[in-house]
Amino acid sequence: MTLRSLLVGTGSALPRTAVSNAELAARVDTSDEWIVERTGIRNRYIAQPDETTATLGAEAAKRALEAAGLTPADIGLIIVATATPDNTFPATATKVQALIGTPNCVAFDVAAVCSGFLYAVTVADSMLRTGAAQHALVIGSETFSRILDWEDRTTCVLFGDGAGAIVLSAQDVDAVGHEGPGILTTRLHAEGQYGDMLYVDGGPSTTGTVGHLRMQGREVFRHAVTNLSSVLGEVMADIGIAPSEIDWVVPHQANRRIIDATAKKLGLPAERVVVTVDQHANTSAASVPLALDQAMRDGRIQAGDLVVLEAMGGGFTWGAAVVRL
Ligand code: UT7
Repeated sequence: MTLRSLLVGTGSALPRTAVSNAELAARVDTSDEWIVERTGIRNRYIAQPDETTATLGAEAAKRALEAAGLTPADIGLIIVATATPDNTFPATATKVQALIGTPNCVAFDVAAVCSGFLYAVTVADSMLRTGAAQHALVIGSETFSRILDWEDRTTCVLFGDGAGAIVLSAQDVDAVGHEGPGILTTRLHAEGQYGDMLYVDGGPSTTGTVGHLRMQGREVFRHAVTNLSSVLGEVMADIGIAPSEIDWVVPHQANRRIIDATAKKLGLPAERVVVTVDQHANTSAASVPLALDQAMRDGRIQAGDLVVLEAMGGGFTWGAAVVRL
């Protein structure tokens, strides 16, 4: 028997307001054609003042709990991956805890920007397997619209708001290798020397302001394809599988061209890659769990499937995980 973290439920939440490329082009010097051709994005959701990273995260968490057949009282660990917390402190995870009504538990945030969800899953998996809790909520939630410079067309068209959540449960599994359910491997990386290629130009300890997102898009694109291909190779080698054995890849949804280029490099057929960037744009730490929830609910991902999650973002940070449903 091996103690594994099983993925037992998913959920997601989007703000009420959808904004199409055409609507954005009425305010920003851009066009639907440019955005679709360069990124694949057609739509994004933008939070209203009453919708925050915590409220979206709590909504996604409630749906994940419902899917898992668990109640807030069952949860011993809440991790929120976010780069857009409601406040500098307390952690957004504690706000989610209060909103969903989980009694005394462990709750904290993880800041690894777009790969935050992969970092949070890795931490939760380690904690569950060492007995810190039996059930964990791992949430990616963001309101990037609050840190965008709406005068900068090179970045403001790329991002959206939203949240995704999963429930992980520690269970003894009678299986070896990549058979049987659960998280099978995770890999994380960071290269801080590239921090100035994708960052926010403010913060409590520097400017005392929130700041705005800045990005050298072309450089980030180049590193993303290289790093994601490489980390996908690592996780496949960890568990001894070939690309043909993967049922679904749920990639970070930053740019359709990055998703396609990475899949092509590994020889993964496009029909086994979940794509939601057209509907949600880049929702940073929320993008992987949002896409995962969509593919679970529409029946693409089925029990027993081998699913690979991957993401890359500011830091640079990147990572991947393999889970059997
Ligand atoms: O989540 C983590 C990471 N983020 C990413 O993974 C994003 C990675 N980068 C990218 O997705 C792409 O680099 C972008 C979508 C950001 C940009 O695409 P690109 O093909 O690299 O375009 P570019 O930056 O080379 O810009 C091409 C042209 C420029 O005009 P000139 O200099 O060639 O005349 C830009 O000024 O497109 C212009 N441009 C725009 N035009 C219309 C830039 N933004 C816009 C815009 N609308 N919104």
